[in-house]
Amino acid sequence: MIYFPKNFVWGTATSAYQIEGAWKKDGKGLSIWDDFSAQKGKTKNGDTGKIACDHYHRYKEDIALMKAAGIKAYRFSISWTRILPSGMGEVNAKGIQFYSDLIDELLRNDITPWVTLYHWDLPLELEKEFGGWLSPKIIYAFKNYAKVCFEYFGERVKHWITINEAWVVATLGYGQGVFAPGKISNEYLYLAGHHLLLAHAEAVECYRNKFQTQQGGVIGMSNNCDWREPKTDAPEDQAAAQRSLEFFLAWFADPIYEGDYPEIMRKNLGERLPKFTPEQQAKLKGSSDFFGLNHYTTMFAEAANGNFGEQEVYGNGGILEDQDVHLSVDENWEKTDMGWAIVPWGCQKLLLWIKDRYDNPAVFITENGCAFEDEADDSKRVNFFKGYLGACEQAISAGANLQGYFVWSFMDNFEWAEGYSKRFGIHYVDFDTQQRSPKASAKWYTSVIQNNGF
Ligand code: GAL
Repeated sequence: MIYFPKNFVWGTATSAYQIEGAWKKDGKGLSIWDDFSAQKGKTKNGDTGKIACDHYHRYKEDIALMKAAGIKAYRFSISWTRILPSGMGEVNAKGIQFYSDLIDELLRNDITPWVTLYHWDLPLELEKEFGGWLSPKIIYAFKNYAKVCFEYFGERVKHWITINEAWVVATLGYGQGVFAPGKISNEYLYLAGHHLLLAHAEAVECYRNKFQTQQGGVIGMSNNCDWREPKTDAPEDQAAAQRSLEFFLAWFADPIYEGDYPEIMRKNLGERLPKFTPEQQAKLKGSSDFFGLNHYTTMFAEAANGNFGEQEVYGNGGILEDQDVHLSVDENWEKTDMGWAIVPWGCQKLLLWIKDRYDNPAVFITENGCAFEDEADDSKRVNFFKGYLGACEQAISAGANLQGYFVWSFMDNFEWAEGYSKRFGIHYVDFDTQQRSPKASAKWYTSVIQNNGF
């Protein structure tokens, strides 16, 4: 038996654009994902989130399924344009009502809401008006939106995540252009990343100054990172793996824990990496009450020496050149339907890397999961979870302060550029009939939660 610490948080996660549908309902404004997915060739089969899982209309049924599965915590995101249709300006009462009802329904069912403010669906108006995350104007727009959410929901929501995966927003949205808003540049990504960090810091400051004492919640950021294993023991490959981790996770975590970007980024990027003022550094440092981590896979890293290798893995927004790293995978590693290698020990190593680098912060894995086609026993997914949860437990035994785990995802949903072709859910969704049903992995997860282990 593998046991987890008492009070370990067991949850599942989703995000607004991936499940809600109702893309224009009740006054909702358009987001960059509404716009991007409607453009030809941006998503598989031209899929969009217009209907998705129709969660906007079916949230009660979904919460009943969560309750039936014994899930204790639910991480969802708020769609900015339901609350503020053009990003700023007047609050849309119907949008507030939807999330208010959702939160109430969760609390009635003893499920703790963990709310992400930004899971990639930027108001289209802000993208058009000033280039979204490329302009410092976004910082105050985000702070204003966050404040509205704290005001309306903070009495009931005690766990806030400002931004989901700044790395993806910056790199895939503004570097490689494979995600909304589809910009390609080896400068934009670092500028977008800079504003994401500053927006996070402002929202946290606002929460701490005006709400945290009365409302008694916590706030943090969720960053994603793969593990990077040195391809060989050679010092240059070890250094390459470390560089790769710093360009991935430390890009966002160092400013939050240390007050500045990693030295290697400053050195390699020069003028392309914006600088923080001392005031900004002071705001950033210590700006997370917990360390949110999304983790999916592992790759080998080695010194590139001009050969950047599997560019198709992450496109060519310049980031591998910036790092001077060549990435690859072991042909023998099993892969998910995303093509991502299943390497549980990478998760363990990453948790210990975080422990050592950031002085053992409280970590919550706010996403971990896998895409597989539906099979009767769902055994590939169950084995994936067994592997990764086993690795989590080993990291805890080795001293990592891991306090919770959220399965990605509660149900099959719109998987961004992959559309509906990839199924990450522990609940099956038939996208024609909107029927849902628990997969074998949901049933397995229920027993894990009940036994606090497996
Ligand atoms: C994460 C993202 C989720 C989900 C998952 C699986 O990067 O936050 O929205 O799509 O990956 O690809």
